[in-house]
Amino acid sequence: MKDHLVAQFAARFGRPPEIVTRAPGRIEFIGNHTDYNGGPVLGAAIDRGIWVALARRDDGVRVFASDQRPAVVKLPATTAPARQTGDASWVNYPLGVLAALPVFGLPVPGGFDYLAASDLPPGAGLSSSAAIELASALAFVAATGTTVERGVLVQAARHAENHFVGVPCGILDQGVSGFGRRDHLVYIDCRGPRFETVPLPAGVQFRIFNTHTKHALVDGLYAARHRECLAAAAALGVAQLVDATAAQVTAAALPPVEARRARHVVDEIARVGATVAALRAGDLAAVGRLLTASHESSRTLFENSTAELDFLVAALTASPHVYGARLTGGGFGGAVMALTTAEFGAADAEAVAAAYAARFGTRPDILETRTGDGAERIS
Ligand code: GLA
Repeated sequence: MKDHLVAQFAARFGRPPEIVTRAPGRIEFIGNHTDYNGGPVLGAAIDRGIWVALARRDDGVRVFASDQRPAVVKLPATTAPARQTGDASWVNYPLGVLAALPVFGLPVPGGFDYLAASDLPPGAGLSSSAAIELASALAFVAATGTTVERGVLVQAARHAENHFVGVPCGILDQGVSGFGRRDHLVYIDCRGPRFETVPLPAGVQFRIFNTHTKHALVDGLYAARHRECLAAAAALGVAQLVDATAAQVTAAALPPVEARRARHVVDEIARVGATVAALRAGDLAAVGRLLTASHESSRTLFENSTAELDFLVAALTASPHVYGARLTGGGFGGAVMALTTAEFGAADAEAVAAAYAARFGTRPDILETRTGDGAERIS
C-alpha cells in the first residue's frame, strides 16, 4: 500500500511525500451503543485502513486528493475550514480534524499537498471515517514538527466527527483506530476515556458479512437512540446510563421505549465486563455466547437490527465452528461479525452467503480479516 501511495503522490504532485501515515478500520466486538452512555466497549483494529501522504507547500494552499474520489479540493490555509458539500464532502474528515486541532491546543499546519488511499472496503461498517480522521490527524501533527499523546489525537478525531462532520458518535471508532494492537482487542472505558488492550486468544478468526443494506433513516435513527438513552438516564436520575443499575431500571416506571433502551445498555455494559473476564480465562465458548446475547438484545430491546442481520446471525450460529455472531456498529443495516474457530472455512462462509442470497436475492460480501495495529506514522 505504501509504495502505491508514494507512487500516486509523485504522479499527482511531482515530488515525493514528506510524511506517510496510516490508521486502521475497526470491528465493534461487543458493547453496542454503550460508548455514548459512558459504558465500556471492546473493539478490534483490523489489518486494513486508510493511508495519508503529505508534503508541505509554502504558498499557503491546501490541496486534498483521494484515490477513492475524483474531487480534488484546493483551499487557502488562511481561512477557517468550512464544510464542503456534494462530491467534495469527503474532505470534511480531514477539514474537521484541522478545525479540531486548536480546540485541543495543538498547532495547525499551513499549506500542503495531501493524498489519501484506502484498502478498506467502502460502506462495510468498518469505520473508514475514523481511519481517515486518525491518519489525517497524525499527518497534520507531523507536518507541524510536533508530537502528541495518542489519547488527545483520538479525542480530536472524535471532535471532528461530532462537530464538523456532524455525527453524534461516541469514542469507539476513533479509540479503536488509535489504540489498536495486533492479536489484541481494545477495551475503552468511555468515561475517562481510558484505553487498554486485551489479548485475543490464539486460533480464532473474524468474518464480516456486509449486507450492503442501509436503513434510509440510519443517521436519524442513531441520533434518536442517543436521545432515548439520554431521556432514560434523566428519568432514572443519573447523569449517564453507565451509572444506573439493572435493579433501578426494573424498579423505575419508565415509558416502554426508554425502559427497553435502558435495559439493553445496562445489560450490554455487564456483557462487556463478562467478555473481558471470559477472554482472560480463554473461555471462547462463553465469549461467543455473550456476542450472540448482545445481538439478541439489539434485536429485541434496542431495536437496531434488521431481518437481514438476524438471518445472518441465525445462519452463522447454527455452525459448530462459530463461537458467536452479532451485528457490528450502529445497526439498522450494515454488517454482521462472526467469531469463528480456525475450522470455519471459505466453504462454510459461502454456504451462509448462498442461504442469504436465496432468501433476500442479493449476496453479502464476505471479508476474512485479522486484527492489526493502531494509527501510526510510517515515514
Ligand atoms: C457507531 C458509532 C459508535 C458507536 C456504535 C454503536 O459505530 O460511530 O460510536 O456508538 O455505532 O455501538
